[in-house]
Order: sequence, then C-alpha cells, then structure tokens
Amino acid sequence: MRASLLLLLLGLVSAVRADFAPLTLNISLDEEPEVRWTPLIKVFDVDYLKKAAAQVIDSTVPKWVHQALKPVVEALEKYIPQPYAGEIRGLASHFGGSLSDVIILNFAYEISAFCTSIVAQDTNGHVYHGRNLDYPHPVLRNLTLNVVFLKNGEVAYRGTSFAGYVGLWTGQSPNKFTVSGDHERWWNWWKNVVSAFLLRRSPVSWLVRETLEEAADFEDAVMRLSKIPIITGVYYIVGGVRGGEGAVITRDRTGPADIWPLDPLNGGWYRVETNFDHWRPPPARDHRREAANKMLNATGQARINMETLYQASMEHTVYTTTMSAAAPEKYNTLVRPEVTILNPTLPALLVFFFLKYFVL
Ligand SMILES: *[C@@H]1O[C@H](CO)[C@@H](O)[C@H](O)[C@H]1NC(C)=O
Ligand SMILES: *[C@@H]1O[C@H](CO)[C@@H](O)[C@H](O)[C@H]1NC(C)=O
Ligand SMILES: *[C@@H]1O[C@H](CO)[C@@H](O)[C@H](O)[C@H]1NC(C)=O
Repeated sequence: MRASLLLLLLGLVSAVRADFAPLTLNISLDEEPEVRWTPLIKVFDVDYLKKAAAQVIDSTVPKWVHQALKPVVEALEKYIPQPYAGEIRGLASHFGGSLSDVIILNFAYEISAFCTSIVAQDTNGHVYHGRNLDYPHPVLRNLTLNVVFLKNGEVAYRGTSFAGYVGLWTGQSPNKFTVSGDHERWWNWWKNVVSAFLLRRSPVSWLVRETLEEAADFEDAVMRLSKIPIITGVYYIVGGVRGGEGAVITRDRTGPADIWPLDPLNGGWYRVETNFDHWRPPPARDHRREAANKMLNATGQARINMETLYQASMEHTVYTTTMSAAAPEKYNTLVRPEVTILNPTLPALLVFFFLKYFVL
C-alpha cells in the first residue's frame, strides 16, 4: 500500500516537473526563402499544424474580422519585405493553407504575452541571459522549436520560435550577443498591422532576426535595436560577451525611450524586464518583477550561472531559454509544463497523504 502510494506520489511530482526540450531544426539561409522551411513539415504533422494555427487565429481574431481581413491581407502581401515574404509564401504552400492565414498567424502571435527577461553578470564578468515567454495559447507548447540558421554550413545565429512563425523573440549570435523581446502592456495588433503595412515599419520580431543576422557585436546590436523604426513599442533585452555588456532598451516606434545598461561597479549586476517600463511600478497584481529581483538577490552575484538563472525563472510560462553569447553551445530552451497541472490542490493533497500514511 505504502509502496504504491509512494509511486503514485512520485508520478504526480514528475508530472508537475515535465519540462521538455523542444525540437531543433536546421534552416539554411543559402536556400531560397520559399523552400528553406521545408524541414518543418518533415518533423511536424501538417494536419496538426493546420489545426493549431486555426486555434491560435480563432482565439485571437474575431471570426468576422478574420473573414473580412482575408482579401485585404492577401492584397498587402506585396508590401512584405524579403526574405519574410518568400518564407511566408513557402510556408503557406507547405501547409496547403491560405496565404492570408499564414500572414495573419505571423501577426496574431505578436499579441499580448507575459514575458520576463533577465540579463545578469557574475563576479568574473560572465554575462547570462534568461527569458520566459508566455502566451495565452497552450497549443504553442507543442509548436515551440529551436531554429539554427546556417550560412555556408556554419551556425549564423539561432533562436527559439513557433512552427510557422518567421520572426524571432529570442536568439543568439554566437560569440557576439543574445537578445530577447518583451511585449509592452498596451500591445494592439490592429495598430501594428497598420503600422507595418502603411508605414512600412518592421515587426518587432523581424528586427530581432535582422539584428542577429547583421550586427557585428553587442554595441552594434544595441544601436540597431534602439534606432531602427518598428511597428510598436517593445522592450529589447541584450547581453554581450564581456562584463558590463548588458542592457534593457525601452523602444518607441521610432527610437529608444530609455536604455538601461548593467552597472556592475555600482551594484547593478542584473536587470529584470517584464512588460512595463522599468522606472515605473508595475500594476499591483503583477508580482513578476519583484519575485525575480528577490530570487536574484537571494542567489547573489557570485552564484549566478545558467542553472541558477533557470531556477530564478520559475513561473507559469510556455518556454524558458537560458543563454550566454560567450558560450554559444550552452543555449538551452525548455518547454514548461502546462499551467493546469499546477493545480493548487495538488500540493495540499500531497501533504495530506504524506501526513496520513507516513507520519500519523
Ligand atoms: C501536444 O501534443 C501531445 C502529443 O502529440 C498531445 O497529447 C497534446 O494534447 C498536445 N497539446 C496541445 C495543447 O495541443
Ligand atoms: C545542423 O547543422 C549542424 C551544423 O552544420 C550540424 O552539425 C548538425 O548535424 C545539423 N543537424 C541536423 C539534424 O541536420
Ligand atoms: C534586491 O537588492 C537590491 C540591492 O541590494 C535592493 O535595492 C532591492 O530592493 C532588492 N530587491 C528585492 C525585491 O529584494
């Protein structure tokens, strides 16, 4: 009886901890944009991808808007810059779905998310970068993947994304810098679409990818991420390879509103960004910033590394990435268990059974 109960408890506990590493795909930038995402349909079931995409769109875009938008979006396709236009067109033909749906998907993913990004440096000047990314679509857990972008057979940059999405919210340029993007609270995807198409501004996640592809080093990355016009405000968190190379950039559509660098000589060995301007208090019910600060303070600068940073990022989330540009092979993403498993009654039940069978 006790043995089977113990097994049951262990089973429950392991269910709670079921983080898993997502698939990693090699995408060759030497291939034409239309065909470079072909590896995707070798590892994902097309029907599953279609259903998942429909679920994301249905929960984001009202049905009538979706219908009304289709012809408009298709007409706008010619305004999308390369390589994204080609990649999106290629994805649409792989999916056997409509072009407008893949375009909408690439904008629907840009809606409100709860993210936390941390850049921190240890006492030896090693810089670490952690990020949680959360979305209100549980189906995205299964669509999370690491993408390695190759040029001439070498790793040009890598990132973590969702199947069917061509931008990056998390990425690393090896031995140069790491970057993550956190949404602003007042994210409005309607305004973003207008801004993208009519004003020809870059979606936030496309600028991340371009920066990973083109920037020479940390400083260059910070300049590009600060200055190049984008469709909406966002927070970019950047980590470099040397002590002091870390910053949170608060972006307006046209330029930087604020740049908040690491300041290790004055105790600023880490920076935490959630979805609010760092100089303003977050809303009373959102404790993510304070929780992260507390955990980082408890860890201390001497003990910060990829593992302790991962521990500090414990929260409900779709995935967590930890990375360090100076140690590019350590890039690590884990998909977090579904929130529903973390039912508050479960710990109470565990305690109850433990007391009942083992103590009393
Ligand atoms: C994810 O995939 C697994 C196995 O393929 C499936 O059982 C599960 O329902 C999927 N979850 C979601 C949220 O789609
Ligand atoms: C991906 O590319 C890297 C670098 O060229 C190579 O070492 C690795 O074997 C490739 N993986 C797959 C699954 O093709
Ligand atoms: C973390 O430590 C800093 C510096 O000692 C302090 O200013 C801050 O209030 C601490 N934050 C929390 C949440 O403990």
